[in-house]
Amino acid sequence: MPDTLTITDNRTGKSYEVPIKDGVIKAPDLRQIKAGPDDAGLATYDPAFMNSAACRSRITYIDGDKGILEYRGYPIEQLAEHSTYLETAYLIMFGELPTTAQLASWTKEITFHTMLHENIKKLMEGFQYDAHPMGVFLSTVGAFSTFYPDAKNIFDDASRKKQIHRLIAKVPTIAAYAFRHSIGRPYVYPDNELSFVGNFLNMLFKMTELKYQVNPVLERALDVLFILHADHEQNCSTTAMRVIGSSHGDPYSAMAGAAAALYGPLHGGANEAVLRMLVEIGNVNNVPAFIKRVKGGEGRLMGFGHRVYKSYDPRAKVIKQTADAVFEVTGKNPLLEIALELERIALQDEYFVSRKLYPNVDFYSGLIYQAMGFPVEMFPVLFAIPRTSGWIAQWEEMLLDPDQKIARPKQVYVGAKRRDFVPRDQRG
Ligand code: CMC
Repeated sequence: MPDTLTITDNRTGKSYEVPIKDGVIKAPDLRQIKAGPDDAGLATYDPAFMNSAACRSRITYIDGDKGILEYRGYPIEQLAEHSTYLETAYLIMFGELPTTAQLASWTKEITFHTMLHENIKKLMEGFQYDAHPMGVFLSTVGAFSTFYPDAKNIFDDASRKKQIHRLIAKVPTIAAYAFRHSIGRPYVYPDNELSFVGNFLNMLFKMTELKYQVNPVLERALDVLFILHADHEQNCSTTAMRVIGSSHGDPYSAMAGAAAALYGPLHGGANEAVLRMLVEIGNVNNVPAFIKRVKGGEGRLMGFGHRVYKSYDPRAKVIKQTADAVFEVTGKNPLLEIALELERIALQDEYFVSRKLYPNVDFYSGLIYQAMGFPVEMFPVLFAIPRTSGWIAQWEEMLLDPDQKIARPKQVYVGAKRRDFVPRDQRG
């Protein structure tokens, strides 16, 4: 059987055969299908990219029906159990798990790039005390492009590596400074003796003590959450990263755009929205009425549903286990009861079942973050820190892919036909 598709255009009666490779046809192959000499050729209409692949990728695999997520072929559950975020970031970037020597050198490179230029600190001080940390985060990442003009050498392998190290290393520092700024505390400089996550917790929570004691359970829990968030193939923010990067600007500018895409409540802002929703519900007894309102079209059940997963999000499963470990240390988050009841009812309700709406990664992550002492505004930032590795791996893959060009979708023009300009005093 040939791997081709035969299309008959009923407007002309002509038939065309187009090749199928890896389960897709190439949209430009449709251009030969024309209704007449003036026809520009057939295209597909796919707002929100519901069924269009924009790249070939070797980084992350998702089977949404089966609830499978793999980075470079490794199941997320195994990485969450055995790996660390830094090791996973290496895997995502370079395609293989590092050897002991490779991991040591990678860790050293990242550790040596955690400091921020003092002028970045001054820049961040300029924000209002109540500035949303995600706004501070994405602005600061964008500002990096002015501090590291060498980043424009995007086709220089060594320069790209340097920006990769800088980005992965510096995002926790930006996030911690944004947090300290919002509560009026002095910034804490990175401590190279600590792990990636330990250092982050130190920069967030250290007060006057000489050495901040990192709780190993919380350190591991945050590391697992970082692993779970490291990449998720062609989601909204990654697509933004690739699209912006396709015009060959520097990676900081592209990542500022990716972070901006992540900020929205339908994407990385959902964890924040979940917490606000749980607070609004306030009590388990109010859950049925809330579900009724959602079903009636009044808002969404935040943390539920996914474009790709049509069964339980595998990340949510791991998070639920992580939550138990965290609550043993911090005490149970009182909102957990409401979340569990929402999940229990929704998983039995025809509205959610028929639409295949299951808890996603954001449903429980916020409860953990809150129990660990993070204000809700920090939640999207906690998503952005690990997603940095996914964004830059996808950006680099796009740059080096000979199939890629500057992104430029088509449109179907349905506006006014050509007409002549009307002087202002003659307009109706
Ligand atoms: N609550 C209630 N109804 C929902 C929800 C929800 N959370 N999600 C989808 N639906 C309904 C929607 O109203 C529609 O119903 P109908 O067919 O009657 O019009 C149907 O389910 C399909 O929804 P959709 O909006 O066409 O689906 P989508 O693939 O465009 O949207 C989504 C995916 C994640 C944006 C959406 O499910 C949603 O808004 N969820 C809440 C926000 C959220 O939790 N986002 C985090 C996503 S996971 C982390 C990340 O990737 O950032």
